[in-house]
Amino acid sequence: MFESKPVTTKTFQKMKDNNEKITMLTAYDCSTAKYIDESGVDSILVGDSLGMTILGYDTTLNVTIEDMLTFTKAVSRGVTRALVIADMPFLSYHVSKEQTTINAGKLIQSGAKAVKLEGASDFILDEVSHLTSCGINVAGHIGFTPQYINQIGGYFIQGKSYENTQNLLKSAKKLEENGAFCIVLEMVPEESARYITENISVPTIGIGAGRYCSGQVLVIDDILGKFSGNIPKFVKQYANVKDIIKNAASTYNKEVKDNIFPCKENIFNLTEEEKEKIDGHFIQH
Ligand code: KIV
Repeated sequence: MFESKPVTTKTFQKMKDNNEKITMLTAYDCSTAKYIDESGVDSILVGDSLGMTILGYDTTLNVTIEDMLTFTKAVSRGVTRALVIADMPFLSYHVSKEQTTINAGKLIQSGAKAVKLEGASDFILDEVSHLTSCGINVAGHIGFTPQYINQIGGYFIQGKSYENTQNLLKSAKKLEENGAFCIVLEMVPEESARYITENISVPTIGIGAGRYCSGQVLVIDDILGKFSGNIPKFVKQYANVKDIIKNAASTYNKEVKDNIFPCKENIFNLTEEEKEKIDGHFIQH
């Protein structure tokens, strides 16, 4: 049984300190968020992965702050307990501190309790520190960072050597020093993720980063078997919603064409009195 108290960033830290795993899933709509919340999952990420899962883009780069505001509002309306984190999309935190603050503030006003941004350059670290000083909780995201796909050049595992792992650890430490309350580690070898997790204080949330992170995050469409694109090795599919949708849609299609649906149980009727009046007015063909 899970606690019904709202999960906060402090809960995250307590869970890491108590060696309790943190769970996180993405969600993009109200009803899915509600069911995830009711399942006991600790946190819901309104990920900019919605660019692919919901909006049909090839990457996250097309997602706008307006998109994120719409989906963050929808998710937040469905959640009473889990910690809602909203991704800051590409270009929403790259222009100036002022714009970053306004955009992060809008996500918070839409119901998110924290925002996530990718990378750990000096510029980003400054933003993390500034947002934190404004009372906005910030999650970091290092390792494979999808918003840098054009520079990375593909979906490549990060931190594959001792030196690269040290660089990732440096980034993680700097994010922590600047106020990040947790750090997402994406597509990092298990040993590197473990090394980073054990050498920083704040929790790490892994996706494709092995078993030793403080918590795990996956994309909801991937675990439901709903997404039709490439499914990475680190995903575990817990359901086959794609087939459920296809079967339901094709059965519906057939039943309408065969005059099976709608049937008696699905229709509204006039009273006998009104029916008699209308019966005399059918046009004869
Ligand atoms: O956008 C997203 O869903 C994410 C997760 C994959 C961590 O950033």
